[in-house]
Amino acid sequence: MQIITDPGQMQAIAEKLRLNRQLVGVVLTMGALHEGHLSLVKIARKSAGIVILTIFVNPRQFGPTEDLHRYPRPLEQDIALAKSADIDYLFVPEAGSIYPEHYQTTLECGVLAERFEGEQRPGHFNGVATVVTKLFNITKPHTAIFGEKDAQQLAVIRQLVADLNMDITIVAAPTVREENGLAVSSRNTYLSSQERSAAGIIYQGICHAEKRIAAQEYNLQAITAEIKEMISSTPGLNPAYVCFVNETTFEPVETAEKGKVYRLLLAVHAGNVRLIDNGKIRT
Ligand code: PAF
Repeated sequence: MQIITDPGQMQAIAEKLRLNRQLVGVVLTMGALHEGHLSLVKIARKSAGIVILTIFVNPRQFGPTEDLHRYPRPLEQDIALAKSADIDYLFVPEAGSIYPEHYQTTLECGVLAERFEGEQRPGHFNGVATVVTKLFNITKPHTAIFGEKDAQQLAVIRQLVADLNMDITIVAAPTVREENGLAVSSRNTYLSSQERSAAGIIYQGICHAEKRIAAQEYNLQAITAEIKEMISSTPGLNPAYVCFVNETTFEPVETAEKGKVYRLLLAVHAGNVRLIDNGKIRT
């Protein structure tokens, strides 16, 4: 595995790989690598001859009151983990080489980015779209793998790729879960052991929705009220939002119809940590 820090050098390597007709798959991360990231690498490896993993904690997707400075950056550990995974290039740029002095351009996402995470974290998706575009331009991938755990981010990136005619296949990877169902995330490291075990209720909420819908309860507002109650009656947890949305538009849906697929989105505060999760629900 070769470690590259310079965007120009990474871009030159990526160009050469393309000229040599190599299929390039990329996994974009902010580091603090875990099982979830490794599962993305495995999926990338299935379709690509060359796998590039990027680590960059993107300051432009953090709001002024968010956790940019305390975001975990265990670089040595990440390098060791990346080495043990099947990765060809690890791209770890410095913030100053991605956003040099006099940097000006930010992409503006549309309506998909307005609700839920977009509403709770103003400017977040514009920062994501900007850095993803830059990292795509640097690594020139044929495919890029993103976790379904960040369902709205995935939808925003699919829209970005379609809107800007990027010739990149976006692949969704299933959410990896801890034993109690909690979705694996770099932010789980902030949780106390009590919070971590209590947070298993989020996944139980998704399972509850599946069961209620299987039992033909199509009043989605009633189901979300039940899930909010499950979460808020768990000590230390507070729901930020629980909502069923249209799988493509992310418009909220109140009543389900038979034979459709919906996405149940959840965001939960555990102490001062925000956890997000979601489930694909078929009626
Ligand atoms: O999902 C993430 O880790 C980040 O939002 C991403 C896609 C790497 C962009 O910084």
